[in-house]
Amino acid sequence: MSGPVLDQLKDARLGAEWFAVGWSREVKAGKTLTRRVLGRDVALWRPAAGDGLHCWLDLCIHRGAKLSLGEVRPGVGGDCLVCPYHGWRYAESGQCVSIPAHPGLIPPVKARAQVFKVRERYGVIWICLGEPGGELPEFPIAEDESFRVLLAGPYRFKALGPRLIENLLDVAHLGIVHAGLLGDPEGEIEDYEVGMGTGGPEAKEIRIFQPNPDGTGAGAHIRYHYEVKGPLTAGFVKYHGEQRFGMLAQVAPVDDETCEMRLVMAMNYGQEIPEEELITFQDRVTEQDRVIVESQRPELLPLDLQAELHLRSDRMAIAYRRWLREIGFTYGTNDGGAA
Ligand code: FES
Ligand SMILES: [Fe+2]
Repeated sequence: MSGPVLDQLKDARLGAEWFAVGWSREVKAGKTLTRRVLGRDVALWRPAAGDGLHCWLDLCIHRGAKLSLGEVRPGVGGDCLVCPYHGWRYAESGQCVSIPAHPGLIPPVKARAQVFKVRERYGVIWICLGEPGGELPEFPIAEDESFRVLLAGPYRFKALGPRLIENLLDVAHLGIVHAGLLGDPEGEIEDYEVGMGTGGPEAKEIRIFQPNPDGTGAGAHIRYHYEVKGPLTAGFVKYHGEQRFGMLAQVAPVDDETCEMRLVMAMNYGQEIPEEELITFQDRVTEQDRVIVESQRPELLPLDLQAELHLRSDRMAIAYRRWLREIGFTYGTNDGGAA
C-alpha cells in the first residue's frame, strides 16, 4: 500500500539518504534479518564467509514470499539466498540462478531481487533505497582508538523524523525534560551562534551546566558542539576539559507514523563503567524525550517560522527548519508559507 511516506520516496532527498537500520553484529554470517524502512521490508543477509552484506527488497519476485525467511546456502561463485517458498536461488548479485521445479531452465533475467546499497561503518548498517546523495555521515571520534564506542537503540517513536532531530538539537529542554540529568531547571541558556557546517547548520559552542552529563553521576559545566549531518541525521560532541562525549543520531522512517532512532556514542573516559549502565542511562533519557515528542502537534514540523513561537535559545531549531526548507525536504514537514 502506498501512503504518504512511500509517496515521499519520489522526493529524491529521502531516496538519497543513508539510513541506519541495524548494528553489524545483528546480522551473523550465513544469516538473514528483516527490517522495515520507508514502508518497505528489506532483507539483510550475510554470506557464510561473513565478509559481505547484502540488502534486498524482502520480496521474492515469483510469488512475493519474504526472502528473509529463506536460507543462505553455498552456490557457484559465492553464496545464494534461497527463497523459502519454491526454493528459487538468488546469487549475491541478486540474479536468480536456479529454479528447483525446472532444473534445466536458465532463469529469466527479470527473475532478480531488487538490490539496495548497503554499507557498514561505526558498527552500524547503513542503507540507501535510491541513489545516495553523498557519503555516510562523518563521526571521526567513533573511529579514534582512544574512544569507546557504544550503540544505543533502536528507539521507536510514534512521530516523524524532523520532530526527533529538532528535539536532539534543542538545548532549552535539557534542564526541564532531563532535569537532574542533563540540565538544571533554573539554568539559563547562554546565547550561542549558529553557522553552516558541511552537512547543515551547526553550533560550535553552547555552554551549559549538567548535573549528570553522561551517566557517570558527576556534574560539570560543559560545552556542546552540535552539527546537522543530513535532514534526519545529527550529532554533537560535549567537551568537559579533556573529556569528550559524542553522539551521532540517525532517524529512519519505518512507515507513515513511526520512526526508529539509532545512536552511536563515543567517549574517551569512563572505561570502567559497564556498558549496560551507560546504555540504560541513554534509554532513560530517550524515554523522557519520546513522551514529549510523541505529544507534539502538528506532527509535521512547521517550516513556516510564523507558525510557532521562537526564542533566542531556539536558534539551532530555527536554523534546522530554515535549512530543511532551503533544501526542499518535504517528509515530516509542512511548508505552509511557501505558496
Ligand atoms: S515465492 Fe519465492 S520461489 Fe516462489
Ligand atoms: Fe532530550
